[in-house]
Amino acid sequence: MKAAVLRAVGTPMQVEDVTLDPLAHGQVLVRTAAAGVCHSDLHFIDGAWPARLPMVLGHEAAGVVEAVGDGVTYVEPGDHVVLLFVAFCGACESCQSGRPNLCQTGRLSAGTMQIDGKATAPFAGLSAFSEQMIVPENGVGKIRKDMPLDRAALIGCGVMTGVGAAINTAKVAAGSTCAVIGTGGVGLNVIQGCVLAGAEKIIAVDMRANKLEMARQFGATHVVDASREDAVARVRDLTGGGADYAFEAIGLPAAITQAFDMVKRGGEAIVVGMAPFGSEVTVSATAFLDEKVLRGCFYGSTRPRVDMPRLVDLYMAGKLKLDELVSARHPLSGINDAFAAMKNGEVARGVIVFE
Ligand SMILES: NC(=O)c1ccc[n+]([C@@H]2O[C@H](COP(=O)([O-])OP(=O)(O)OC[C@H]3O[C@@H](n4cnc5c(N)ncnc54)[C@H](O)[C@@H]3O)[C@@H](O)[C@H]2O)c1
Ligand SMILES: [Zn+2]
Ligand SMILES: [Zn+2]
Repeated sequence: MKAAVLRAVGTPMQVEDVTLDPLAHGQVLVRTAAAGVCHSDLHFIDGAWPARLPMVLGHEAAGVVEAVGDGVTYVEPGDHVVLLFVAFCGACESCQSGRPNLCQTGRLSAGTMQIDGKATAPFAGLSAFSEQMIVPENGVGKIRKDMPLDRAALIGCGVMTGVGAAINTAKVAAGSTCAVIGTGGVGLNVIQGCVLAGAEKIIAVDMRANKLEMARQFGATHVVDASREDAVARVRDLTGGGADYAFEAIGLPAAITQAFDMVKRGGEAIVVGMAPFGSEVTVSATAFLDEKVLRGCFYGSTRPRVDMPRLVDLYMAGKLKLDELVSARHPLSGINDAFAAMKNGEVARGVIVFE
């Protein structure tokens, strides 16, 4: 099968033939229908995060089940699924305490891939930039068949992460004020999560006019161009002293500090962006006397079998914007163009669509 292989940091991926090891007990073989282009993949391409290369990236996908291994009961061939970049075991302490996004064992049971005759563990447990994937049974979320798969793919990371950051992680309260720094594929979904939660003011902060325009389309009530004004001062002004919640959705330590500085006494800053591996952030220690909270967010605190079908239903009911999120569709051979478009800030989300 064909897959886009990253061989060295900072170089284009190459579409090559790779093979999957045979399907084992408890695993599911999925034919990839579509895979979204997320900035998290770009962190590994750029070397901001380390990866063992060669590797096939991609972690935001949807597809159709082709075969199941012994013991699989949750899905059968023909089922449509969203891929989870964190499979859950259901049994560990995190899973048992209602936090399956922090599962401590899930990834171990993913299938391996042969690249250059060497067994390679899939990226994020799936390696979605390939025609097929082998994942554990608990690494897929079954969805209704009338849901378009190219838009379902986005639920696999960006939509779940963004909407989940607002609804699950922050538990945004109706009538509250929110700021979102970075309005790309993830930030736009934080905005629509804040809309779903009933936030009164949603202030989008970005450096690009086209992104701020998209932010308005997704429900931002105010926009701040951080290339022209002091975003912290502007948000504090617009909210009369600070927002209830501020989300960082870039992956920049300085923006994390800004998010913390934007919230009011008792407010909460939620870090969604993936800052460079090993980087650190500085915040005012004095501000903790204001009971400010600095909180991490991984995968929108997803509970996949609760949240994924809900997001699909919200889209089908016209309450979640996914059509507007897909700015461009590319074949697998166009994958490097898709990443260039994201890097240049041209798109909300690009999607690789498989034949
Ligand atoms: N926590 C998680 O589970 C999780 C999941 C998915 C993605 N992420 C991370 O979220 C971040 C965003 O991902 P994405 O796919 O939306 O990326 P993206 O490239 O689509 O969006 C980033 C946005 O930030 C804006 N930006 C860049 N520098 C800025 C600055 N200094 N001030 C204001 N805006 C600025 C860009 O213009 C762009 O609109 C990445 O770091 C990604 O790795 C985290
Ligand atoms: Zn992602
Ligand atoms: Zn677990």
